[in-house]
Amino acid sequence: MEENSKNNNPLAPVVSKLINVIILLMVSIIALIILFAVFVPAPTPKVEKKMEVPIPDKNGLFTEAAKQALIPKDTTNYWSAPDAATLDQDPNKDLIVYGKDLITHTSEYYGQNGKIFKSSTNGMNCQNCHLDAGTKVFGNNYSSVASTYPKFRARSGAIENIYKRVNDCFERSLNGKAIDTLSKEMQGIVAYMKWLGKDVKKGEKPIGSGFKDLAFLDRAADSEKGKTIYFEKCQSCHQVDGLGLMNAEKTAYTYPPLWGKNSYNDGAGLYRMSNFAKYVKYNMPLGASHNNPQLSDEEAWDVAAFVNSQTRPKKDIKKDWPKIEEKPFDHPFGPYADGFDEKQHKYGPYKPIKEKLEAMKKRRRVKYKFKN
Ligand code: HEC
Ligand code: HEC
Repeated sequence: MEENSKNNNPLAPVVSKLINVIILLMVSIIALIILFAVFVPAPTPKVEKKMEVPIPDKNGLFTEAAKQALIPKDTTNYWSAPDAATLDQDPNKDLIVYGKDLITHTSEYYGQNGKIFKSSTNGMNCQNCHLDAGTKVFGNNYSSVASTYPKFRARSGAIENIYKRVNDCFERSLNGKAIDTLSKEMQGIVAYMKWLGKDVKKGEKPIGSGFKDLAFLDRAADSEKGKTIYFEKCQSCHQVDGLGLMNAEKTAYTYPPLWGKNSYNDGAGLYRMSNFAKYVKYNMPLGASHNNPQLSDEEAWDVAAFVNSQTRPKKDIKKDWPKIEEKPFDHPFGPYADGFDEKQHKYGPYKPIKEKLEAMKKRRRVKYKFKN
């Protein structure tokens, strides 16, 4: 009777089910704990950064050296050009040295009184934009030319070798004539670039290559504000009229032009606002560098807007960007596939354009996947 009443307890099956569930839960929790212990790495202990404490002098003042010690040291491993001493063993030494001279003193070969061609360029030197003969960190250097060319470039819609890329700058930045690929001059320029990049692995871009990134403004760049900056910080060298200043012998520019008939044309890299702003932010006024910039981000964008609103030679660029959807956000000439107008492409704000272009690119990729 007692047995029976126990078995007939209507709650018994529920209780036993509950116990099962509880056991299952506990087992899962234990399993989870074990999983975590095994697979989640223990957090690495935080190494406390040691700040060097500057010591004040007896008057309680900090010396320059003490102040310097407070600035955190940049220990990044930036690219630097190969040691010139390695040239001595190079069978190409003479050609490489000749190439470097062409980059540094381009005008003496192709300028107004050029030894090779008179006035086949605007008289600028490659080095005016590729600083320190193309070796300055974030100074538009040539560190990754040898490692990344030949490569596909959307501007021409074709695979370009180094010769083509060098001639691009002759025709656009130097607003001049392309030079013969087989000439000793072209061979020298390319030999020099290959020597500069000889320790860079194929396909790689070392740290410090090209330009350093610069954040967008959330407004359009303002050429009126840029004008003020130009007259405060640039005109002392580049002159009031922006036309630069030639040396006394008229063989080269002491201060290169920023606009006018001897400047880069509107198909050149610097005519794109982002290139100009990045170049200037980390290299101008002369002496500025990526770890010692002199301009704020706003000043760099605004002065870019001012300079790139002045007159300069035109290039026939109808064949550029054969796929209009690949035009970069700051390419200032339509037609465009993204729906933004020429003015916004030229002066910004760029963020909405860039986001739209990225979304369009993603969609193209998905489509491509489905087709194949
Ligand atoms: C007015 C400025 C200017 C001058 C002068 C100039 N360049 Fe350039 N060059 C640029 C800019 C800007 C770029 C980068 C453009 C870009 O990425 O869109 C560039 C890119 C290059 C590149 C490709 C670099 C890379 O890593 O992809 C080579 C090679 C080059 N220039 C060679 C030359 C040579 C050779 C001369 C002289 C005959 C020269 N440039 C003169 C502005 C200039
Ligand atoms: C102290 C003189 C000096 C000042 C100030 C100066 N620059 Fe320059 N700038 C130069 C020199 C010199 C070069 C060429 C560098 C070389 O060949 O090594 C140059 C090159 C350039 C170039 C590339 C070559 C060209 O002519 O297109 C640009 C762009 C430029 N400067 C913009 C500016 C801007 C913008 C400012 C003001 C924010 C400025 N510079 C202030 C001396 C100066």
